[in-house]
Amino acid sequence: MQTFVFDTLEEVGKKTLEYLNGPDIAISGGGTYAELFEIWKKELLKRGPEVKNLNFYPVDERRVGFDESGNNWKVAFDKLFAPLGIREQKDNMGQSAAQFQSLLKSNFGDRVVFDQIYLGMGDDGHTASLFPGDPALEDTDSLVLETNSPKPPVPRVTLGLRIIWDARDLITVVLGGGKASLVKRLLDGDMSLPITRAMKGHANPILILDKAAAAQI
Ligand code: 6PG
Repeated sequence: MQTFVFDTLEEVGKKTLEYLNGPDIAISGGGTYAELFEIWKKELLKRGPEVKNLNFYPVDERRVGFDESGNNWKVAFDKLFAPLGIREQKDNMGQSAAQFQSLLKSNFGDRVVFDQIYLGMGDDGHTASLFPGDPALEDTDSLVLETNSPKPPVPRVTLGLRIIWDARDLITVVLGGGKASLVKRLLDGDMSLPITRAMKGHANPILILDKAAAAQI
């Protein structure tokens, strides 16, 4: 695992952007990415028309309507797609496993391989919508799964481990001292954490931390 530690959010954002070349990119929801999207927006605007070649998909989605509270794709739309003039990305929202899988198959063909998958880590060690102890973690075949979060909104749709492991670049971003002990467990190889399974199954995973998240390593 390649691990990078930075002092500021700006530096973290800059590092994540080094990989963001697409064309097919899956992005996580949550507060970490909501912050990063502000940085991505500024930098991607500088890239000009080439952003039209990027296709964004959700790593996971809370199964609520686009305009309802908690919807990841609405956050990505407001913070990234609309300002970048790529509003059509709205159509890539995941709503159910069947709908999302058929969308991926029709856009990618038989082999669904993302160029970049950007993961986060929750404060229980979950990643995507793969939660500790969930049977979805034993499913290494399904492209997309439906899971239940311990916290609302409960019903989720998520990429499965197979797609995560197959990504060309797998980038995980973790910020904040509240997650420092989990980062240590991840680097110690604690396989009870979904984030460890997601990263260890990939050939060359990249972990990007701020100083606070790296405090115990
Ligand atoms: C989601 C996610 C999830 C997220 C982590 C970290 O929709 O909740 O995609 O896996 O990346 O929970 O979230 P925070 O950045 O908010 O801590």
